[in-house]
Amino acid sequence: MTSHTLIAGNWKMNGLLSSLDEARAIAEGSSDSVVKIAVFPPFTLLHAMSEALGPDSHILLGGQDCHHEDNGAYTGDVSAAQLLDAGARMVLLGHSERRHGHKEACELVALKARAAVKAGLEPLICVGETLEQRKEGLTHAVLSKQLRDSLPDDLIGKAFHVSYEPVWAIGTGMIATDDQIIDAFALIRRVISERFGDEFKPHLLYGGSVKPDNAAEVLRLEGVGGALVGGASLKAADFLKIIHSAP
Ligand code: G3P
Repeated sequence: MTSHTLIAGNWKMNGLLSSLDEARAIAEGSSDSVVKIAVFPPFTLLHAMSEALGPDSHILLGGQDCHHEDNGAYTGDVSAAQLLDAGARMVLLGHSERRHGHKEACELVALKARAAVKAGLEPLICVGETLEQRKEGLTHAVLSKQLRDSLPDDLIGKAFHVSYEPVWAIGTGMIATDDQIIDAFALIRRVISERFGDEFKPHLLYGGSVKPDNAAEVLRLEGVGGALVGGASLKAADFLKIIHSAP
């Protein structure tokens, strides 16, 4: 039996080789789970984690970003094909820490998404408004624009996922309210079905201060297809509680 829920852990710039034990513990503790589980370790751990979990692991691995070109003189960057080669099946794109910290525009996110699906990776594309934008009543406009401009036509017919991560909820302990999540998800679903058709139903995830004690409430909300978890994915015990909270 498979579930329509995806629980993903974004390790961000955390983890050393010694952290592979946490990944092994996540795999062992979730072996009977029907939830789809993904971990996005830093690039340095991707191949080692893939080897540690083994080729038949139920844990999907992903990179935290990729370059939009196939290869070439791009110092410090990693291509989608290199991620795949290292054991990734997915890639996070457009995370707010890339959009804001690295000034990545939607158009660049779209080029990366095109490169990702061309290489055979499933992109998980993040969108979300800042606190200022929310206070100014711009949440819908910001999300619509990010979705319109970050999702290329190349995604039509391909597997991809979208995570709603309000920037103000990331790492702050300030989770969005049920109403805010429901409202944002309704908009995201509408924009995606207008663009890709009603029959196309990607996982829509919520991210931003998801913890073991609030995961069940978020995951039971109408239309929420999973969670993208930062801090609470670093320790297997916490991440497993979130996985086991999924309906
Ligand atoms: O990508 C996950 C994320 O940005 C949320 O982080 O630490 O608030 O769960 P955190």
